[in-house]
Amino acid sequence: MKSVPFYELKPGQVVAEDVFKGSTLLISKGTVLRARDIERLKNHGIKTVTVYDETDFVTGAIQEKIIVQFEDIPSLVDEEQYSQWHEQFEIVKDITYLKEDTSELEELVEDIYKKFLKADDLVLNLFHSIGEKALNAHSINTAIISTLIASKLDMPEMFLNSLLKTCLLHDIGYSLIGNRVIFDYDNLDDMTVRSHILSAYEMLRSIQSKIGKDVVDSVSTHHERFDGNGIFMKLKENSISPLVRILQVGDAYDSYIESGHSPYNAMSFLLRYSGLIFDPYYVSVFFSIAGLYPTGTEVILNNGKKAVVIRKGKTSSFPVVKFDNTIVETGVESGLFIKEVVRKGE
Ligand SMILES: [Fe+2]
Ligand SMILES: [Fe+2]
Repeated sequence: MKSVPFYELKPGQVVAEDVFKGSTLLISKGTVLRARDIERLKNHGIKTVTVYDETDFVTGAIQEKIIVQFEDIPSLVDEEQYSQWHEQFEIVKDITYLKEDTSELEELVEDIYKKFLKADDLVLNLFHSIGEKALNAHSINTAIISTLIASKLDMPEMFLNSLLKTCLLHDIGYSLIGNRVIFDYDNLDDMTVRSHILSAYEMLRSIQSKIGKDVVDSVSTHHERFDGNGIFMKLKENSISPLVRILQVGDAYDSYIESGHSPYNAMSFLLRYSGLIFDPYYVSVFFSIAGLYPTGTEVILNNGKKAVVIRKGKTSSFPVVKFDNTIVETGVESGLFIKEVVRKGE
């Protein structure tokens, strides 16, 4: 455990002691901090917060757990399936094992691929995790979202195979260096961000013949930017592999949410940086899958009720929402419309 001044708090940290203002409980022990929580603590004038540090996960002081992002909404896959993928990924990210045998990676690719090929009516409610296993969830989520995009475009099976491998391995560098930046798109000069690319390349090139050169190259270039202002290579537009350009959409969306932002803000981030970081084409494909108000977005309807988006409706701007235990599709037929998105300190 360590005591951290509020200006050094980061989304993803786990609160180790209840935080009170007078007798009011502001944040309870065990909460995974989101950007909005940190803002709230700041607004209440809280000076320091006790959070768990890395060693607490290792010593078992805190149990790592898989959490579905939005509790009141059905999850994208059932928890049992997801836990199994976690176990498989644990083996995949064990470098010594991966060097010997890539069959577990192939199996995981196959599993995710089959599950999400031509999946309709998606409730994009993903799982996240805390502690060391957070990388497992992020890698799997990136693979899921990228599969949805590529399968919508009818990409050939060979392409999907390489895409899924790239997604599952893209941040493996963080597990090699034992440190991780959750949202790694806004500071490409950060030493940890730079190291996760270099260490992944060092490791993966030794198994290039097994996983494919396109996968190794794509992992090494996953922080290039569409406008040419990326990391190391300064590749631009079509000179960046489509594997990377698809991966980046899933990667940024998932890690933006993991770092405490709402799905609506994650989608807004993709749209704002479309053509700068991201390929506008793949952003638009994901937009057509998730809609303007992705699953989990909290909104106020024109009847004054607060509702939460369950999934996309027939069109991008009129999602299916839930309020007062009623599920209804917004739009002309129901006469219900979104008046505004609930913003909480974002
Ligand atoms: Fe990364
Ligand atoms: Fe990532």
